[in-house]
Amino acid sequence: MLKLGVLGSGRGSNFVAIADAIEAGKLDAEIRVVGSDFSDAPILDEARRRGYEVYGCPKSQFKTKLEPEIETELAQVLLDAKVEVVVLAGFMRVIKAPLLEAFPKRIINIHPSLLPDFKGLEAWKQALEAGVAETGCTVHWVNEEIDGGAILGQEKVPVEEGDTAERLHARIQVAEHELYPAVLKHLAAQWKGEV
Ligand code: GRF
Repeated sequence: MLKLGVLGSGRGSNFVAIADAIEAGKLDAEIRVVGSDFSDAPILDEARRRGYEVYGCPKSQFKTKLEPEIETELAQVLLDAKVEVVVLAGFMRVIKAPLLEAFPKRIINIHPSLLPDFKGLEAWKQALEAGVAETGCTVHWVNEEIDGGAILGQEKVPVEEGDTAERLHARIQVAEHELYPAVLKHLAAQWKGEV
């Protein structure tokens, strides 16, 4: 069974979608540990409530990355938990060498746009401002280039007349909650040599 480590910084709605799929027997995977860069993040409360092992990083002095020693410790926690694939679910730090080297080609992320369009922060706002007819979400492998790794799956979301950033983001999140478990299901089958 594919062993996952989930990392998130906030609400963790993608974590919930993945955990629900596993708990309902729809995704043959196991969540070994849930980690966050904030020890008081709601995602950790939800993980605790569901009985998963949790880990909160010590406070970082940076906003968009972690100190190398904090990231090294996080990588060690995931290794100790025998994690095979690291699932970023709203983890708002740039992944650097400590995690990339501990999990080479084994970290995946979900991004709220149809990559390679609208990399970076608040991608749904970027899409709205660019006036595109559709946007969506992408699950991709993580490498040293931000939002730049190979694409594993995408789901389109049309931009509607009169959309606000909030409404568009909410619909993209609904698509994310379908896409992430579906991509993981495919990955889990590949892991077992079924596809
Ligand atoms: C999602 O929109 C995801 O695309 C982005 O961060 C957000 C996380 O949301 N990477 P949640 O914490 O899973 O609710």
